[in-house]
Amino acid sequence: MRHSFLFLFAVAATLSGIPGFAQKNVSYYNEPYRPQFHFTAEKNWLNDPNGLVYYKGEYHLFYQHNPYGKGWGNMHWGHAVSNDLLHWKHRPLAIYPLEGTPDHYKCPAFSGSAVVDRNNTSGLQKGNEKTIVAIYTAMHCGQRVVYSNDAGKTWQPYPTPVIPVMKNGTMDERDPKVFWHEPAKKWVMVLYIGPDKDQQERGIAIYNSANLLQWEQKSFIKGMYECPDLFELAVDDNPAEKKWVLHGADGGYFIGSFDGSTFIPETEKIKMDLGNNFYAAQSYSDIPAADGRRIQIGWMNGGIYPDAPFNQQMAFPCVLTLKRFPEGLRVCRNPVTEIKNIYGEKFVITNKMVQPGSNILSAVKGDALDIHAVIEPGTAGSFGFVIRKGSYETSGTPVRYDARNKKLSVLGKTVDLEPVNGKIELRILADRASLEVFANGGKISLSGCFIPVYTFNDLEFFCEGGNVKVESMEIYKLKSAWQK
Ligand code: FRU
Repeated sequence: MRHSFLFLFAVAATLSGIPGFAQKNVSYYNEPYRPQFHFTAEKNWLNDPNGLVYYKGEYHLFYQHNPYGKGWGNMHWGHAVSNDLLHWKHRPLAIYPLEGTPDHYKCPAFSGSAVVDRNNTSGLQKGNEKTIVAIYTAMHCGQRVVYSNDAGKTWQPYPTPVIPVMKNGTMDERDPKVFWHEPAKKWVMVLYIGPDKDQQERGIAIYNSANLLQWEQKSFIKGMYECPDLFELAVDDNPAEKKWVLHGADGGYFIGSFDGSTFIPETEKIKMDLGNNFYAAQSYSDIPAADGRRIQIGWMNGGIYPDAPFNQQMAFPCVLTLKRFPEGLRVCRNPVTEIKNIYGEKFVITNKMVQPGSNILSAVKGDALDIHAVIEPGTAGSFGFVIRKGSYETSGTPVRYDARNKKLSVLGKTVDLEPVNGKIELRILADRASLEVFANGGKISLSGCFIPVYTFNDLEFFCEGGNVKVESMEIYKLKSAWQK
């Protein structure tokens, strides 16, 4: 009786958001809605991932950060490093706004990227460490450089803009992403440029440079918005057949060719992640050739974390690959295999017929799970997973496949999904306040945030209207990547 009273109180407190209730006596990174294996700032706001660069065993993750509040504003670059893309260590702020005070920063530090200047093309290297050069938008003060000669520990500003403010009155160019183009032996920048005063269409400008400090515009592509990324991928892992992908903040991308200065799209715009909460993704620079992965991190924009000291989380790092399908080439996204580093207890089910009304996962409880499943829809009208059962009154069914209409829904977002050889393959990363669903080898992905009832930890697999065959299910409980 007493127990159920406490339980009800906890639920009521969560739902009504009694301030402070949820936060009492919690250990580090263990508040009720604190992601356990996704990146969040210790406190306050974050948005876009910035400056993703690998150097000497460390993945650097910079991010748009407001150190003074839980809402967007006062943009700085926060900084964290990791050896495995899971366990992050916080570092001091790396880039500050230029001019002004927290009441009014004239030139906040907006998004950008970072590269290792291996051949010291910039002339900025001082000692033995290669210089890491970050190029970012000091909003209203042009595209700027900060650089580090101590493996990313400290950052010095380069004194003048490398691309000055362009158009008086609009000043809406931002988010430089830079990489080295080996065949042309030059640096390339893709930069978002907003519509000018005459409402000329916005798009992505492509620049070249020999030294990261002087840039010349070479071409312009209409119809893309914010946070561009441009990279090459092998088709079906065949190094002899490669294509370029130009990607924008909303997840729209073109596949095409690129000669170092001009990108020629060969497809319509395709959407990468189709979920409710995925934006401004960026891919890593300087991943060693022996690894060769194109690793991408997005921002799960729009998540809500009642009473939490932080606001917003990154998406889980994913590997991008290019695969050929009957309808053409598609970029597939799949979580980095390093997630194994936090695997805990494992549950396995193979070749099992499931009937409506039974829950084969009643023994699995948890708020951080990695679920792999291959399902034959059989006679069922639909099937799916309910993660943290009871939490979804406002956010829609967590994961449901409608086998009659061949549609996958994740937290209220519905997309087409055809079975392959009569099977649906699903991978679900469930963290405290998010679900990332990857279907059919990552061809489809949907990233979404939800607000759980934090005391609800039951997992359910359901089917409706007939039986399904679970060919295989492997579920791992995930340990926290954040405990000190
Ligand atoms: C995308 C974005 C970028 C900008 C940054 C500011 O989310 O609007 O274009 O640089 O956020 O925080």
